[in-house]
Amino acid sequence: MARPFLISFLFPLCIIFLLICGGSTVAALSRDDFPSGFIFGAGTSAYQVEGAAAEDGRKPSIWDAFCHAGKMPDHSNADVAADQYHKYKEDVKLMHETGLDAYRFSIAWPRLIPDGRGEINPKGLQYYNNLINELLSYGIQPHVTLYHFDLPQALQDEYNGLLSTKFIDDFTAYADVCFREFGDRVKNWVTVNEPNVESLGGYDQGAFPPERCSYPFGNCTSGNSTTEPYIVAHHLLLAHSSVVLLYREKYQAEQGGKIGITILAIWFVPATEDPEDIAAARRAVDFHIGWLLHPIVHGTYPAIMRKIAGSRLPLLSKENFEKVKGSFDFIGINHYFTISVKSDPSQLKNKVRDYVRDMAVKISNIVSLDKALFRKYIKGLPVAPWGLSELLEHFKINYGNPPIMIHENGDFEEADSTNPVTINDDFRINYLEQYLEALNLSIRNGSNTQGYFVWSLIDCFEILFGYTNRYGIYGVNFNDTEKTRYTRSSARWYANLLGGKANIKGASRDTHLVKNIALQ
Ligand SMILES: *[C@@H]1O[C@H](CO)[C@@H](O)[C@H](O)[C@H]1NC(C)=O
Ligand SMILES: *[C@@H]1O[C@H](CO)[C@@H](O)[C@H](O)[C@H]1NC(C)=O
Ligand SMILES: *[C@@H]1O[C@H](CO)[C@@H](O)[C@H](O)[C@H]1NC(C)=O
Ligand SMILES: *[C@@H]1O[C@H](CO)[C@@H](O)[C@H](O)[C@H]1NC(C)=O
Ligand SMILES: *[C@@H]1O[C@H](CO)[C@@H](O)[C@H](O)[C@H]1NC(C)=O
Repeated sequence: MARPFLISFLFPLCIIFLLICGGSTVAALSRDDFPSGFIFGAGTSAYQVEGAAAEDGRKPSIWDAFCHAGKMPDHSNADVAADQYHKYKEDVKLMHETGLDAYRFSIAWPRLIPDGRGEINPKGLQYYNNLINELLSYGIQPHVTLYHFDLPQALQDEYNGLLSTKFIDDFTAYADVCFREFGDRVKNWVTVNEPNVESLGGYDQGAFPPERCSYPFGNCTSGNSTTEPYIVAHHLLLAHSSVVLLYREKYQAEQGGKIGITILAIWFVPATEDPEDIAAARRAVDFHIGWLLHPIVHGTYPAIMRKIAGSRLPLLSKENFEKVKGSFDFIGINHYFTISVKSDPSQLKNKVRDYVRDMAVKISNIVSLDKALFRKYIKGLPVAPWGLSELLEHFKINYGNPPIMIHENGDFEEADSTNPVTINDDFRINYLEQYLEALNLSIRNGSNTQGYFVWSLIDCFEILFGYTNRYGIYGVNFNDTEKTRYTRSSARWYANLLGGKANIKGASRDTHLVKNIALQ
């Protein structure tokens, strides 16, 4: 969900076109290419699909407030979204037909504990019990994220949400309820989704709720872009580790589950062989991924961040060091694309700097096929599957090869104003296939990746794009009140790969797609 927008708000968009011909897509992938026990799934998040925003006791999150203030480019909101709250049984059936091992979803904190702390909403509790039980009745594992951007508005109003350390206690208490109520059946937990994105989007550029930033980094009524992104990420890190500690001390022995955190993981490569650019790419990776990962694995922020951000980067006390270091059973990564960068030391000459200036890089290009030229054939994101391999290699070499779950990977199409749901999405099959082929090779080369989830199961309300970008392997007609689901070619392709029970006949895939493009 945090896809191309990151480029547009993080960096000036600048697409230079590298023409890379010859993706090899001929050898058909099969489940047998992957280790036994490897998990294949698909994902969504609560606010993005559930709808029923004011129903059965749910109260607003910061995203409801943001959308209702008309802040989305398409002026949309997720009051109804894909209506999964009412259609979860139908969706679980689709998952079963596709042959998924697992479904990644999130619990909406403002549905379960509408005021952020205190009273549990019995209807919220019932909904997640129903969903979990429905999944298990088909043998589909629930992989549950506790916090996926949707902070209860009550906590934002009361103490400025993530800016306050009170958030850590309230989040831990909410997690306690989740483990207690659902942990007998949920064995895979993620504390926080994309803390690196939320800190940046909400507190540096102000493009996300709660829209905090300062001049000249964005146009907000309050905030401080030079300090708040670092403070918020720090609080998310402490909240994460507090919840992991709780799980380990109180639940893990009995419930036997695993817990981790999920980070947006763009891969960065140097634009040239110049050592400055090579260092810049590494710096970008350290700022973007190491920001959260380095403390969790090694107990400290990356040295380069400390050097550049200085005292704006909070210190990890001795006590917190002990809590944070090692606070994971697996690392979740959301990976969509690779960016090539050049060094831009002039950024550091600015006396007033935000996180982006601290990074001191400039985008050279988004590594890709030439999108403009091939728009006719390829929609959505550039395909650079080797970027995933390099990313996994980075985890292997620098972070002790932790167990990894690829929690998001997928490709979008722009909504077509004349056609409520597209069905043929060969571009998406091409994307998924190439990334899975790269994953196959990485695993055989020693990567400890244990699962892969397509983003997304069904079309969602997309963060910052509303309903104008679609990622689903199942399409949703948002224009019809029934929010009817449609099986895309990619769902049939995935079902074929996974040995799904239904919907696989008629699987149609132009295996010569890439070849044809190369010949144009
Ligand atoms: C998976 O990797 C193995 C080992 O490198 C290779 O033989 C096989 O062709 C790969 N499968 C696909 C579909 O790429
Ligand atoms: C900031 O927002 C205000 C109110 O929406 C608008 O009038 C102004 O033009 C914006 N300034 C910039 C630099 O975008
Ligand atoms: C941001 O916080 C820093 C440190 O407290 C302070 O020096 C700076 O003036 C603040 N900037 C704004 C725009 O408030
Ligand atoms: C769906 O509805 C929106 C607004 O209600 C409209 O702009 C759009 O053209 C419709 N799309 C289709 C494919 O009917
Ligand atoms: C395979 O692993 C080795 C050792 O980590 C590394 O040097 C090599 O680059 C890797 N190859 C690929 C294709 O990732």
